[in-house]
Amino acid sequence: MKKADLKAKKVSDSKTIMTEMVMPNDTNPSGNLMGGNLMRWMDIAASIAAGKHCESEVVTASVDHVSFTKPIFKGDIVTIESAVTRTFNSSLEVYVEVFAADMKGNNNRMCNHAYFTFVALTDDMKKTRVVPDVIPLTREEEKLFEGAERRRELRLVLSGRLQPSEAKIMKEFFKKL
Ligand SMILES: CC(C)(COP(=O)(O)OP(=O)(O)OC[C@H]1O[C@@H](n2cnc3c(N)ncnc32)[C@H](O)[C@@H]1OP(=O)(O)O)[C@@H](O)C(=O)NCCC(=O)NCCS
Repeated sequence: MKKADLKAKKVSDSKTIMTEMVMPNDTNPSGNLMGGNLMRWMDIAASIAAGKHCESEVVTASVDHVSFTKPIFKGDIVTIESAVTRTFNSSLEVYVEVFAADMKGNNNRMCNHAYFTFVALTDDMKKTRVVPDVIPLTREEEKLFEGAERRRELRLVLSGRLQPSEAKIMKEFFKKL
C-alpha cells in the first residue's frame, strides 16, 4: 500500500478523551497520583488516537516533553485528551494533554502534556506500514502540525537515528531566531 492510496483524515477523527479516577493504589507515598501510572494512562489514550487514525496496530516508539507540573490528588478525576498532530511514513505524532479536577469540578487545571510517537504495523505485527496523512483545520491544529517536523528531527537526533548535520529543519528554525 502506498501513502497516496490512503485517504487523509481530519485531526478530529482521532480525538480521544479518556477519564479516570485516582484510586488509592494509583498513588505514591505522598498520596498523589504516581507519575508512572499517569504515563500508562497517557500511553493508552495516545495509542487509541494513533490506532484510530491508522486503523491498524501501533507501537509506542518514543515519548517527549513529559513534565509533571502540578500534582494530581487521590480522588481527583483525570481527563486525558489525545489526537494525531502529523504523520510521516510509518510513524505518527500524537499530542496528549492531561487535566485534573475534584469530583465537584473544582480546581480544574492542566497538569501536563506530552508528544508520543507511534509506528503503525501490519496485522501480523511483523512489518511497519505506511500511515494516512492528517489534515489540520483549526489554527491550533496547524501550529501543532507545523512544529511536528521539527520535533521529529530533534527526537531522531537525540535517539541517534539522525546526524545533527542532517537536521535541516532545525537548522533553518534556529537561523530565524
Ligand atoms: C518502533 C519500532 C517499530 C521501529 O522499528 P525500526 O526497525 O527501527 O523501524 P524503522 O527504522 O523502519 O523506522 C520506522 C519508523 O519508526 C521511527 N522511529 C524509530 N525509532 C524512533 C524513535 N526513537 N523516535 C521516533 N521515531 C522513531 C522512524 O523514524 C520511522 O519513521 P518513518 O517511517 O515515519 O520515517 C521498533 O523499534 C519496535 O518495535 N520497538 C518496540 C516498540 C514497543 O514495543 N513499544 C512498547 C513499549 S515496550
